[in-house]
Formats: sequence, structure tokens, C-alpha cells
Amino acid sequence: MAASPTSYDAIILGAGAAGLMAAARAGQKGMRVAVLEKADKPGKKILISGGGRCNFTNVNAGPGNFLSDNPHFAKSALARYTAQNFIDLVNAHGITWHEKTLGQLFCDGSAKQIVQMLLDECPDDRVDVICEAEVTAVEHEDNRFAVMASGQIFTAPKLVIATGGPSIPKMGASSFAYDLARQFGLKVVEPRPALVPLTLGGDDVLFRELSGVSAPVSARAGSGKKKAEFAEAALFTHKGLSGPAILQISSYWRHGEEIGITFLPEADAEWLIGLKKDYPRANLRTVLRHHLPDRLADALADRIGIETEFSNVPDKALRLAGQQLADWRFTPNGTEGFAKAEVTIGGISTAELSSQTMEAKKVPGLYAIGEAVDVTGWLGGYNFQWAWASGAAAAEAM
Ligand code: FDA
Repeated sequence: MAASPTSYDAIILGAGAAGLMAAARAGQKGMRVAVLEKADKPGKKILISGGGRCNFTNVNAGPGNFLSDNPHFAKSALARYTAQNFIDLVNAHGITWHEKTLGQLFCDGSAKQIVQMLLDECPDDRVDVICEAEVTAVEHEDNRFAVMASGQIFTAPKLVIATGGPSIPKMGASSFAYDLARQFGLKVVEPRPALVPLTLGGDDVLFRELSGVSAPVSARAGSGKKKAEFAEAALFTHKGLSGPAILQISSYWRHGEEIGITFLPEADAEWLIGLKKDYPRANLRTVLRHHLPDRLADALADRIGIETEFSNVPDKALRLAGQQLADWRFTPNGTEGFAKAEVTIGGISTAELSSQTMEAKKVPGLYAIGEAVDVTGWLGGYNFQWAWASGAAAAEAM
């Protein structure tokens, strides 16, 4: 019997990266799929991603690039739908791309091409992408889900939560996925902003004077198994710290903890003592100015407080200065919050889901994919790779 207009084999909530991938692949297997999207067009976060060029994957993507309460959860999906699978898809659509840095792949043209590709992958006669359809309620009875969206009711035996996380609320992002998961008795790991600038207060507030200054650093945060170090650029802002190195460590940072920054990643603890031998008339400020932007060099020299030429400074003081430069401690007083966070850490607990299928263990037919789930990638195309992989895993299983 042909399905009536509101009756489908699967309903996908959210036409973002994960939802569109799941819809395309479920449609290709012959399923009748409705994708309900509250915005006026699909894939809005894809469109603004990567500065409009979409960093659509990372060639190095593997489970080690993701944070989750269960670090093993992402393994299966990532192994079954790899960065190469997505690259093959992009190539098949004639979209040209380039590697920018650290395995990050971007469109040569525009992120619009990725959204169009995903829509083109959805067979017209199988998949309906319905925009301006905000889902407000979901019921589950007799193994069917009934979804209320903008005054209409849609029903299906399968329901996929792909409504993302609450980062960038001004784009309409919300905690809808978590509310729905809780309605079905699924636990949610406390959501926090991630890939987000950190704010400085207290003594560190003086560094805010350096707003606009950027330098290559090595930055560290976290403790125990949840710690990480990234060698990339840091940027001082009028509120604190940003730039790729800081965004990366923000995912590992917890309120009250310190972060460590190595300002001269190439230098070792004896570096200044070596300079004292070779250039006894030099001083710390001029040496730092040689390697770092002047304003940053001056700020660091002021705080270290060694003004005289090296020949007058004891080795011990130089060694201490070297150690300080190698592990400068800041205690951020917060983050710039969901308003500025590229992703959300936490989300629907992976303990509730099958890592093979993304199906809820206690609610057969209910799936959760993408950012809604407690799997968060590093900066650099990893979050889209999780969206593609988890979307593909759910579609395969439905
Ligand atoms: P996503 O947020 O994409 O989609 C969820 C959809 O659900 C949205 O379209 C939303 O409107 C819809 N929705 C929500 N509630 C609803 C409701 N009640 N009813 C109906 N629809 C509803 N990652 C990366 O790998 N490379 C990159 O270059 C970038 N760049 C980037 C830039 C910026 C500024 C941001 C904010 C984020 C990134 N990201 C990124 C992260 C990436 O965008 C993010 O991880 C994915 O979009 C997540 O895909 P999802 O499909 O899970 O959610």
C-alpha cells in the first residue's frame, strides 16, 4: 500500500549535516523519508562553516580526535564511513577541494556545494525535505512515532533525532534533542560549550590589552585521560584568548582549572642560558621581540621582570624565565558560552545508544545522530565527519 502523504518509513528531525546524510542513504535504500527542518532552508550550519567554504572532513579523522564519556563509542561508525568515503562522494559530484592545513579539507568554491550535494543525493521520489516545519511534540504508540510540526502530523515506525546541539542559539540552535531524549527516558551528559574562546580575569586581565595579537604556541588543558595539547596559533582578544590552539583546548578545560601555554615551542629550558653565552649584551625583551610579536614580547618581558643584559643575570633566573615561557599559566574565568561555541560537548549519552546503529537501546526505532549525541570532535572537519558517519550508520540500520 502506498504511504499517505504524512505517513513515512522514517522521520528525521533536523536537516543539518547528520540528518541530510541519513536521509540520503535511507532514501537510496528505498525508504520513504520525511526530513523536518524548522529553518527556512536546510544545512544552515554547513553554509556558515569553514568561513563559507566548509571544512567538510579531516583526512586524519579517527576515534582519538573525539571527546565523549565513552571514547570507544565513535569507533564503529567512523570505521564504516571514513573521510575517504566522503571525499569520494565530493569527487563524484565534481566539487573541487583543497587541504588547508593539518588534514583539513575545504571546498575550493562554497559550502553551498556541500548542501546541494546532500540534497542531490536524496532521491526525489523517496525523500521529502520539509522546511519551516518546527517539531514541537513527539508521541510514541503502537510502535509508531507521531511528530507534530507546524500544525501537521507525520507518522513513521522510525524516528531519528538529528537536531544538533545548542551552540549558536541566534541561528535557532536549541536543546530540543535533549528534551526529546529525556522524554524517552534517555540520559543526557551535561552539555557545555566547546571549541569556544576562553575569557580571562584577575591578574590575567592585563593580557586583554594584547587584543588582536596572535602567535604560534603550544597550549595544554585538562587532566587525567581528558587532557590534550595542541600546537597551533593563539589569539589574544578583548575578552581573553581565542585562535585554533585555544578553541581546541577549550573542549578539555573545566571551570577553575589552569591552562598552560608554551610561547616558544622550539625553545628548551636552557635556551636563555645558551643565549647568555653567545650574546651576553642582549636582553630578554629584545630576544623575545625577535621571536614574538612586539606587544606580546613586551608583555611577557614586563611580567618576567628581567630588564638588564644577560651577562648580569644569574643562570638560575634565566632558567626560571625559560620555564615560565615554556609553561605560562592562565586561569580562565569562563568561556564566551554557547553564543560563540562552534560545537557542544556532551549530549545524548552514548550509554543509551548502540554504537553500531545509533538506535536507542530501550526505545526500538528511535535513533540519535550528529552533534545531539555525546561525541564531539576537534576543530578541523572532525565534527562533520562524525555527522556523516553517524548519519550513515543509522541509515544503514533502519
Ligand atoms: P546541525 O546543527 O547541523 O543541524 C541540526 C538541524 O536541526 C538544524 O538545521 C536545526 O535548524 C534543526 N532543528 C533544531 N531543532 C529543530 C526542531 N525542533 N524542529 C525541526 N528542526 C530543528 N564542523 C566541521 O567539521 N567543520 C567546519 O568547518 C565547521 N565549522 C563550523 C562553523 C560554525 C560557525 C559553527 C557554529 C559550527 C561549525 N562546525 C564545523 C560544527 C558543525 O557545524 C556541526 O558539528 C554540525 O553542523 C552538526 O551537524 P548536525 O546535523 O548534528 O546538527
